[in-house]
Amino acid sequence: MVPLSELRQAMEDPQFRHAAMVHFPVVLSVAAFGLALIAALFRSWSRIPLAIALLAFIALVVSARMAGVSGDAAEGAVGVIAEEARVALDRHKHLGRPIYLYAIVVTFVTFLGMFNKWKLGLIAPWLSVAGGGFLLLKMASAAHVGGTLVYEYGLGTPNPMTDKQLAIARGEYKEPTPAYDDPRVVYFHERVRPVLYMNCMGCHAASDPAADLDLTTIAGALAGGSRGPSLVPGSPEESLLMRSISWEDEDLFMPPEVELSDADKEVIRQWISDGAVWDYELPAPEEEEADGAPETDDAGE
Ligand code: HEC
Repeated sequence: MVPLSELRQAMEDPQFRHAAMVHFPVVLSVAAFGLALIAALFRSWSRIPLAIALLAFIALVVSARMAGVSGDAAEGAVGVIAEEARVALDRHKHLGRPIYLYAIVVTFVTFLGMFNKWKLGLIAPWLSVAGGGFLLLKMASAAHVGGTLVYEYGLGTPNPMTDKQLAIARGEYKEPTPAYDDPRVVYFHERVRPVLYMNCMGCHAASDPAADLDLTTIAGALAGGSRGPSLVPGSPEESLLMRSISWEDEDLFMPPEVELSDADKEVIRQWISDGAVWDYELPAPEEEEADGAPETDDAGE
């Protein structure tokens, strides 16, 4: 037996309270339906079963309403949960909330049948049976979704499922790979950027780039200068930037004064052939910033 004090403490939790409370309308909806059925089958016998059914329907109205109120409080206590659980919760609410209203209608019909108002005659108790059956079905589907909330998504337990936990439980979870784990990004920062910074950015910086070529951002490098795009990711041969540092084209030796070391040339070649990965995927810059002057801080002025 659970000690009474523990039970009282558990009842402080709105979700536990709701879970405990919903048992009343669930049981009552079964009982009321059964009683209405007995009343209809043994009609000639007496009106007592129908009277008890009527009481059960009234109790159902009250308890269903209370369950609804406690349900709202329970929902308020729900923290971060999986999106799917949220959808199920809405469905549960949608199914459960109007039950007390349906129960009012069925209670009224049963009341009319009892006193044979409107000359309902023989069909009266069967109307209660039909109404009771309808209530029972509604109650069953609300309870079913409610059960899913508890047993599948852990609502009302100390550890409701989040999207991530749900994915883990289903074996569908993949740890996201942070961009800085990409060896190409590391290569860019450790090898490529220093070469560009030391040898190129002095002249090819955003403020007033030589030949309109801005080598401080990937956008600038891709857009290129007066001769067109300077980078073709994946293809050093087609990249003007590579040709310029190779000192192959008579009219374009870069940097103009001192030729890069073979090691530096190789770094650039390798980088371009690996796709010219520049940086982490940064969020797209704001419109104005994009056509304004981006990233001039490390232009090395
Ligand atoms: C001292 C200044 C200076 C430095 C340093 C420099 N450049 Fe240039 N760069 C220029 C000038 C000036 C031009 C225009 C030359 C021309 O049009 O004949 C140019 C043109 C270019 C072009 C052709 C752009 C086009 O579309 O016309 C490329 C590519 C280029 N530079 C790459 C580089 C790279 C890569 C580095 C570093 C390894 C570098 N530059 C370093 C001054 C510089």
